Amino acid sequence: MRPTIIVEDLSVAYGDKLALEDVSFKMLEPGFLSVVGPNGSGKTTLLKALLGIIKPIAGYVEVLGYKVPTERYKLRKHVGYVPQRERVDPSKPVLVKDVVLMGRIALRGWGHPLLEADYRAAMDALKAVQMEDFWDEPYAHLSGGQQQRVLIARALAVNPQLLLLDEPLSGVDAVTQEVILRALKAKADEGVLLIMVVHDLNPVVELSNYVMLLNRRVVAFGKVWEVLSEQLLSDAFNRRVSIAKTDGKLIISGFDHHA
Ligand SMILES: Nc1ncnc2c1ncn2[C@@H]1O[C@H](COP(=O)(O)OP(=O)(O)O)[C@@H](O)[C@H]1O
Ligand SMILES: [Mg+2]
Repeated sequence: MRPTIIVEDLSVAYGDKLALEDVSFKMLEPGFLSVVGPNGSGKTTLLKALLGIIKPIAGYVEVLGYKVPTERYKLRKHVGYVPQRERVDPSKPVLVKDVVLMGRIALRGWGHPLLEADYRAAMDALKAVQMEDFWDEPYAHLSGGQQQRVLIARALAVNPQLLLLDEPLSGVDAVTQEVILRALKAKADEGVLLIMVVHDLNPVVELSNYVMLLNRRVVAFGKVWEVLSEQLLSDAFNRRVSIAKTDGKLIISGFDHHA
């Protein structure tokens, strides 16, 4: 399996409305890509196109060596996906372990019994986000931040080669942010490819190898230091964005749009 992503001239439309237009980028080795862009700029659509959940109207997409969407079912076994936050119906008696094991069930195929290894992978994934004590708790009883950690654990439990995360840091507490970023950093260090949509670049600047500014088209894609210019950010967000360096730490302000 090649740890690569190749996207060439990808266009996606909903009806006659273009959500992505001529998007091209390549990741030819494992790394951490952060994607930012205004509301409605196509960030979620990009992740779905990489997974093959939506079919493009044009373009070529190859993920981990699989052609998408044609080979999406083979690809899915190697991908952990954390969708933009879904609220879970609190009346549903789902336990934390059920949520995390869902990832393993999808991996085995429906109807196949879970094995010891599945339970171990689920527990290890919960440990990675410091939620192992909640194994038997009802998922609905958890705080928003704790629920997000469990959803990350569900994605980690399949031992993915690629992690796609859609605004996993939005609306969670500071501790959860830190725990999530530490778990993701550990995965990146293991050679897992990560693509994360964020609404605020500040917490992820130091972690990212690559940054993409998206606004239906790719405004900029490259190494963090190539992309993070006030001009490019201001163009992408149609407002004045400033970058300051304080005590060696980069602070980007003006673009945070709070989805
Ligand atoms: N299922 C859908 N049907 C119709 N339009 C959609 C659908 N999903 C997204 N869109 C539109 O496509 C554009 C990109 O959406 P999205 O990828 O969700 O952007 P982002 O994640 O950057 O906020 C938006 O204009 C949005 O309204
Ligand atoms: Mg989105």
